[in-house]
Amino acid sequence: MKKTNTFKRVLAFVLVCLMAVSLVSCVGGSGGEGTIGIVMPTKSLERWNRDGSYLKKEFEAKGYDVELVYADNDVAQQVNDIENLIAGEVDLLVIAAVDGESLTNVLEGAKEADIPVIAYDRLIMNTEAVKYYVSFDNYTVGKLQGQYVIDTLGLKLDDTSKTYNIEFTAGDPADNNAGFFFNGAFDTLKPYLDAGILKCVSGQTAFTQVATQSWSTDNALSRMQNILGSYYSDGTVLDIALCSNDSTALGVSKAIESDYAGSNQPIITGQDGDEANLANMIDGKQSMTVYKAVANEAVVTLNLAISILEGKTPNGDLITESGWDFACAYDTESYDNNTGKIPSYLLVPTVVTKDNIQKELVDTGYYKMDGNYPKAIG
Ligand code: GAL
Repeated sequence: MKKTNTFKRVLAFVLVCLMAVSLVSCVGGSGGEGTIGIVMPTKSLERWNRDGSYLKKEFEAKGYDVELVYADNDVAQQVNDIENLIAGEVDLLVIAAVDGESLTNVLEGAKEADIPVIAYDRLIMNTEAVKYYVSFDNYTVGKLQGQYVIDTLGLKLDDTSKTYNIEFTAGDPADNNAGFFFNGAFDTLKPYLDAGILKCVSGQTAFTQVATQSWSTDNALSRMQNILGSYYSDGTVLDIALCSNDSTALGVSKAIESDYAGSNQPIITGQDGDEANLANMIDGKQSMTVYKAVANEAVVTLNLAISILEGKTPNGDLITESGWDFACAYDTESYDNNTGKIPSYLLVPTVVTKDNIQKELVDTGYYKMDGNYPKAIG
């Protein structure tokens, strides 16, 4: 009798322990083990600081160790960073490339060491080491910028009574995204250029002519100063400066402030929701930005990485299984890195203007107001 009671007690204890263990693992998700190498391009552009800290936070919260490195926009430094992480035997690499074409050799090492690589935000070209790509729908970013111009000016293809002058500023040719952004915007506006409703006075409409090395604000500033000096100093009105992102929009805004002879404020587009640009939007110096919730990009990367590390081959099911409260598409067609199509998880970008900053950025918890201007919570 006594023996049976003791046995029952032990059994009950074991059951309680088992329940406690399974409860903890349910609540906490799979406790991660190992080290994640997170390789970011530069601290000099605001968004990458936010990406780095969100990614670090997400992985550490799941129990992973994180090595976070920034390359100062320098290819050699980034190659060196990756070499060190491979030598340190990280378990997985998340890489936003400085130059998408320059990591082929170094990533051979990752392949040999069986370290899976996720291309983060920017696709890495010419390497089989990249298994997955996480980004936003880059072409749509450009489309939203182009459509904003059409909607704001109320352009109609059958109404050629009023024409508008436009100049384009695109991103870094080393960044595979830059062409997608530019093409999205240009394809959307092309019918209006063809109809003569939009006129590019400088004639610079090819990506190679309008690209901005390193996405640099200073490069965008000096190119726009040249354009304003060469084509607009006689009083020609500039109506639209289509800029692919906020760092270039900042340079273009500065050029307009210092070198534009006209008195109108041209429409200026952007991307990222950088603090300086949001302040410019509130002050009427920039019209819109395309916001990409990088906090969610980090969540997708985390769930994808966990699945890979668990030995699975993630596909579209990851989206339903993860139960994200934001939209994300699984795309196996759009991104080819020259070794084949790379399965991609693409999040959805949002247009932000002065009028919906509160709703889209502050109420969502991404920024807080600091006086009149939003500051990112990172
Ligand atoms: C792109 C990125 C943009 C922007 C730009 C400049 O690759 O998608 O959001 O930040 O780089 O860094």
